[in-house]
Amino acid sequence: MENSISISSLVSDLTCSNCHKSYSLFEEQTYASCCNKPLLVNYHLEEHILQEEIIGQEQSIWRYAAVLPVLDPINQISLGEGSTPLFNLQKLASRYGFNKIYLKDESQNPTGSFKARGLSVAISKAKEFNRSKCIVPTAGNAGGAMAAYCAKAGMEATVVMPVKTPSIFKEECRLYGANLILVDGLINDCAKKVAELNRDHDFFDVSTLKEPYRIEGKKTMGYEIAEQLNWKLPDIIIYPAGGGTGLIGIWKAFKEMKKMGWITGKLPKMFAVQSSKCAPIAEAIKDSKNWQTNFIPSATIANGLAVPFPFGMDLMLQVLKESEGAVCMIDDSEIIIGLKEIAKTEGLIISPEGAATWKALNQLCLKGIVKQSENILLLNTGTGYKYFENL
Ligand SMILES: Cc1ncc(COP(=O)(O)O)c(C=O)c1O
Repeated sequence: MENSISISSLVSDLTCSNCHKSYSLFEEQTYASCCNKPLLVNYHLEEHILQEEIIGQEQSIWRYAAVLPVLDPINQISLGEGSTPLFNLQKLASRYGFNKIYLKDESQNPTGSFKARGLSVAISKAKEFNRSKCIVPTAGNAGGAMAAYCAKAGMEATVVMPVKTPSIFKEECRLYGANLILVDGLINDCAKKVAELNRDHDFFDVSTLKEPYRIEGKKTMGYEIAEQLNWKLPDIIIYPAGGGTGLIGIWKAFKEMKKMGWITGKLPKMFAVQSSKCAPIAEAIKDSKNWQTNFIPSATIANGLAVPFPFGMDLMLQVLKESEGAVCMIDDSEIIIGLKEIAKTEGLIISPEGAATWKALNQLCLKGIVKQSENILLLNTGTGYKYFENL
């Protein structure tokens, strides 16, 4: 790649999230760092850069192109992702005595989930590196999103998905023209299949956090939340964590905005929600050294939360610690109750992953960890319409 492209992005370099070794942004860095940990993208961010100097006019994630890693705007592959609504769940809040509950509704993204944000940026980078074949292991939503963005970019998509995923996730991949490979197991088994296929093929592998770009797309949720709330962040954010890109990305956005002076004061406490059937974060907090040895995960109706061995575990734990947050576990039966309650009260059919955040809020209040008087933001990461088979 030429170093002389006109750069609209403020991107500076990449660093290993463990030892902070710097990597060039002009070389393709699709695999983990020297320490086998995620690579993170850095920007030339100065104090006192005004919002007007950075934020564009687009009603999509690309309004934040200056803090995204795509160098030449010609490479942006967009389906209109981002700029999702922030609902005020007034009825639910007053029924249960809360001051304010916001819901960032990511179901309105292309392909029905927040995965569109990350895949838009990752596939744009694949284009910037002149790549033509992409691969991803997925619990469902990321596969559909990658297939759609590859279709738009004219690239070949290979999606590796657990066989026990609702059929709509499989059908959408096929409709977008992807090669779909079904695996008996969870996403970690799909990741093994991807590693095997990588040995013989020249894929651009967008496995969660093994490349540095999806998280950059996901971080735009943090920028949007701040902009939509007029740069005054909520006290509490509750996020359904699988691989953790959203959690890590939102926190990264907050720190970037703090550096630029856009937000001040204490950042929100970040809470991760997992299914009781697969809660590796809770296991890692209990026993950081040996948790993987006896951990037996199983499938959940919240498919996106069935990520038994997340590659970004250290970064997730760091976010929870730095923000003074915690992890919650919710049973599938509770998730279904929460999903139905939000549908009947607020007229929104949200994903089981999103519904888990509402039940987690109740749990956190019962334990006295969160107060009803605090300003709370829940993330609905996807549409519930894809999960009817699970319900
Ligand atoms: C709807 C939904 N919510 C949450 C997640 C978890 O996302 P992450 O892996 O970024 O933590 C997924 C992942 O597949 C998902 O599809």
